[in-house]
Amino acid sequence: MNDAETVRVELGPRSYDVRIGQGLLARAGREIQPLLSRPKVAVVTDEHVAALHLDTLKAALAGIEVATLVLSPGEATKGWDGLRQATEWLLAAKVERRDLVIALGGGVIGDLAGFAAAILRRGVRFVQVPTTLLAQVDSSVGGKTGINSPHGKNLIGAFHQPSLVLADTAVLSTLPRREFLAGYGEVVKYGLLGDAGFFSWLERNGPALPAGDPELRNHAVVRSVAMKAAIVARDETEEGDRALLNLGHTFAHALEAATGYSQRLLHGEAVSVGCALAFDLSARLGLCPQEDPVRVRAHLRAMGMPASLADVPGDLPDAEGLLALMAQDKKVIDGRLRFVLARGIGAAFVADGIDIAQVRSLLKDSRAGY
Ligand code: NAD
Ligand code: GLY
Repeated sequence: MNDAETVRVELGPRSYDVRIGQGLLARAGREIQPLLSRPKVAVVTDEHVAALHLDTLKAALAGIEVATLVLSPGEATKGWDGLRQATEWLLAAKVERRDLVIALGGGVIGDLAGFAAAILRRGVRFVQVPTTLLAQVDSSVGGKTGINSPHGKNLIGAFHQPSLVLADTAVLSTLPRREFLAGYGEVVKYGLLGDAGFFSWLERNGPALPAGDPELRNHAVVRSVAMKAAIVARDETEEGDRALLNLGHTFAHALEAATGYSQRLLHGEAVSVGCALAFDLSARLGLCPQEDPVRVRAHLRAMGMPASLADVPGDLPDAEGLLALMAQDKKVIDGRLRFVLARGIGAAFVADGIDIAQVRSLLKDSRAGY
């Protein structure tokens, strides 16, 4: 299948296309060619992705000089050491202001290589070639780049929009099922935050997605990217609406901190639990119908995803401990927790100053499991 769909991220002079379809990696040369000022690119990737997909990209870039940096896979690479390695390597590879950096990989590589591109020579252009579902539907779009600090995740970074995103949905076939499902946590998030029809579509078609139906996968990625693109176009630097993309994330960040950002709980799995909790909280506050959190949890569980604190393997801090971790989240403003809540499926909004006692009692009940 050679057709690709295009979602445009409208940001004035920083606008770009997100191309989505099967087989785009093998056609990357043609897609990227119009952006080149000379036949040279620098590719940053990780060992897992290099072993599976780098040869296809290199073959697609025949006739173009390709320098390649292969980094260790995993979140630990997205730190100061990884950034120094990437930027010094880009300089050694003589990447110039008008050259192009290609980030081939998941969110770790996209965030790191994007940030390296943002600060190299005060900014060079880069292309995102996301290879995880999470990166295709979320991290490769919208220009958030950065690294982690010992003080917390994603605390050092810059907005630096890519010049192009190439999301080849065929590469998702090599993704471990658990990683695919973690990315699905972000897909569900889009339905929950702004498109009830899409959530219904996911209820019907979600279970077929991990198995790999190409049409269904393309639709899920295209719809997710279109929603993100529209939100980013309205609010590039998260002064308002972009915060909606953080549905479930206040809970999720606390859970990721509590589980040490480890394989015990992947980011998308934490988002899955977080979305279920956000709907529970919304129902308890009388904001949405009681049936909505039941429906959200039922779908997540049908997908084999965690949907309550009791679904997280191993011990977790008690409700007080989790509240303390939420208070460390960088989206705390003036000491008050900010949540994205919902008036129903597909109707999220940003809520400040909500009753912490309700959050505490929800966390206690969710630990007990329901
Ligand atoms: P990741 O990049 O670590 O990839 C997960 C694993 O899958 C890695 O081991 C990787 O090597 C492997 N992998 C990647 N593509 C593969 C493929 N096609 N086949 C087989 N294996 C493959 O993790 P991720 O979930 O893609 O991204 C998580 C990161 O994204 C976090 O650092 C998070 O903070 C960041 N993030 C950023 C944004 C943003 O807006 N910039 C949004 C969400 C998440
Ligand atoms: N992943 C949240 C954002 O891009 O704003």
